Amino acid sequence: MPTEAITDPRTFTDPAALHGLLARIRKEDPLPFIAADDYAPFWLVSSHSDILEVERNSAQFINAPRQALLPLSYERQARAAAGGVETAAIMRNLILMDGEEHKAYRQITQSYFTPKGLESLIGDIEQLATEFISRMDQSEGEIDFAQVAMAFPLRVVMTMLGVPPADEPMMLRLTQQTLSSQDPEFQKEGGARAAMLQMYSYFQKIIADLRATPNDTLASVISNARIDGELLADRDVFGYFNITATAGHDTTSYAITSGMLAFLENPDELAKLRTDPALMPLAVEEILRWTTPVKHFCRTAVNDCVVAGKAIKAGDLLLLSFPSGSFDDAIYEDPFTFRIDRRPNRHLAFGTGPHVCLGQYLARFELASFFRELLDKVEHIELAGTPRFVEGSFVGGVKHLPVRYRLKPAA
Ligand code: HEM
Repeated sequence: MPTEAITDPRTFTDPAALHGLLARIRKEDPLPFIAADDYAPFWLVSSHSDILEVERNSAQFINAPRQALLPLSYERQARAAAGGVETAAIMRNLILMDGEEHKAYRQITQSYFTPKGLESLIGDIEQLATEFISRMDQSEGEIDFAQVAMAFPLRVVMTMLGVPPADEPMMLRLTQQTLSSQDPEFQKEGGARAAMLQMYSYFQKIIADLRATPNDTLASVISNARIDGELLADRDVFGYFNITATAGHDTTSYAITSGMLAFLENPDELAKLRTDPALMPLAVEEILRWTTPVKHFCRTAVNDCVVAGKAIKAGDLLLLSFPSGSFDDAIYEDPFTFRIDRRPNRHLAFGTGPHVCLGQYLARFELASFFRELLDKVEHIELAGTPRFVEGSFVGGVKHLPVRYRLKPAA
């Protein structure tokens, strides 16, 4: 497989092929310059240590102006479909901010997302895990496990954003059309940008209502936040809603579905966790490493510099390959073995540095609650068909997972 295949969304539907390609890149030339047809040329940062170096040096490698690598033709079409309106006119989010501005905007919700800040939500999240696992409602049956796994993090994050359950199917669609817009199943006329515009209109009413009547939800914190005494501009408030709705949902769902597949392919590891539930925190880290749902983010070099012996020029684009870092054998012993008691486990699923995932503690908590509930209620679970992966190079994982299950007899 040629190195340029890393830009091809189809490569991500076959984890063995993807990891074969990334392992070869790490071995032969860990920082190749890739000029693929219809893509902006970029440096592929594949080793764990180089990803850390680039992410931590955030003055030299900035997030603006490009968060992800998509085909140039696709970007042009989406812009035309949106009547030439630039994304930045409608939305600015944390991912695209740098330096002091990024710090100030992140500060708005930083304490909400700490383990302490999330404490008051723990009971609700556990209850939701119970509710969604109970969708496996036959004593024995078959189900697309994605229907269970997708709906759970969606409800968690939509509740935080003040979206009622009746609107969740629409929001699910819009978030998938935004983050997984390369997959034919999730495409929308007008592309990801059309999905974003629809989401923009939707959130305006919620924002207006919460400004009139604040409450203690995340949505209210964002809607009423002030920087230098001023309420945030519309595009910044929406940017916060949009990043939380998208980054806070599909990522966690794919960690759950792909993590479930890892257990189905490694039943001894599931048995180990059943026998010793205290392993759950380590198991969650291994699920995150193994699934690494965010496949890349981009950075742009500010000055000429050298990374891994390569001369990078000011303005060059770098693509951080998180799955590559999470399977780097310079860091991990037997990276291709799924081992729920792996320790240490410094995976890159959440990135690192100033932009490290804001929702990391929430995601960990959701994963632990979900799998704890699964082990509590389900006696046996096995594959009942072929899993299907998202076609996309940005965010993805297993999107359909047919399983056969048997519940524990009711106590
Ligand atoms: C398994 C689930 C998740 C994964 C794998 C994941 C992964 C990531 C990654 C890789 C980044 C970029 C880090 C970097 O540039 O170094 C990120 C940023 C972010 N994530 Fe997550 N995420 C997850 C869940 C969540 C949740 C549940 C939320 C919120 C409800 C969330 C909100 C955010 C936000 C707001 C950012 C931008 C932070 C910034 O730029 O300062 N994520 N996430």
